[in-house]
Amino acid sequence: MNANLELIKQEIIAGAEELNSSKEVYEFKKKFLDGKTGKIGLLMREMKNIPPEQRADYGKGVNELKEWALDFLGELDAKMKEKELQARYESEKLDISLPAVELEEGNLHPITLVRNQLIDIFSGMGFEIFEGTEIETDYYNFTALNTPQDHPARDMQDTFYLSPEFLLRTQTSAGQIHVMEKQKPPIKILSPGKVFRSDDDATHSPMFTQMEGLVVDKGITLCDLQGMLDVFVQKIYGEGTKTRLRPSYFPFTEPSVEVDCSCFECGGTGCKLCKGTGWIEILGAGIVNNKVLENCGIDSNEYSGLAFGIGIERTAMLKYGINNIKLLFESDLRVLKQLND
Ligand code: PHE
Repeated sequence: MNANLELIKQEIIAGAEELNSSKEVYEFKKKFLDGKTGKIGLLMREMKNIPPEQRADYGKGVNELKEWALDFLGELDAKMKEKELQARYESEKLDISLPAVELEEGNLHPITLVRNQLIDIFSGMGFEIFEGTEIETDYYNFTALNTPQDHPARDMQDTFYLSPEFLLRTQTSAGQIHVMEKQKPPIKILSPGKVFRSDDDATHSPMFTQMEGLVVDKGITLCDLQGMLDVFVQKIYGEGTKTRLRPSYFPFTEPSVEVDCSCFECGGTGCKLCKGTGWIEILGAGIVNNKVLENCGIDSNEYSGLAFGIGIERTAMLKYGINNIKLLFESDLRVLKQLND
């Protein structure tokens, strides 16, 4: 009998050499210690067949073997688990000295930046925002702005007509009429928005953005216009920037002016940007034509107004030194990343 127990012990010792994981130890342990099928378990069950006088010895021997196997395999199991834990620590180790993945920060599109900047500047002067609609009637876009059918000034803008009555607005000036029809002076509004013209080259796009300004009150003159525009150019292009008014023509303003600012690149001495003139054309403006005031039921003997229309793309192109308007619409990140304020 003792020889048999010794054999099982040797079998356990030899078998243990082959074990490589705690899972294997578990399976191996079951092979010997499982109460029903394990080799030692079966020996325990044999007890009832042993003659009573040998039973005490038999039981003692099997119990000792069982205790020993439990200790021996328990120790092995603990060693395996420790090894496995170490291996897990190794594999899950974090290298905290590695540089973190850099999160890219987005920025606003240059058109939005300039638009916001203009809104900031003019709302500081008391202007309120009016958002018109992109689809307009011929009346608001042209007729009420003193540009009736067959007026030669209609040729100044190549219009997308949707029907004889409806069109895509060619200018935010259409908003002037809506505002003056609804509101009586004093009026001080700023109207940003998309406008559309069938025009396409390096500096023109079929869709672009304008910012209309309109002030109507008693005694408004060109001086008020130039004063406001001086503040605007200084804030956008820098402290020393000046403005200059040149006579021009728009049907809805009289007199009409083209506004230049002193070249912020060369300070007025002449360079490539200003084509050697020292001045850069930035917007159209004027004193609201009396006929337009009257079309909206405003007494032109009592009130006068000023209006201006700023091209946002043009302002952005000058500010950021962009020579092709398409770069503003292509959403090329290599371009946009450079245009951040
Ligand atoms: N609407 C004109 C244009 O688009 C600009 C302008 C606005 C001129 C207001 C005078 C007054 O060219």
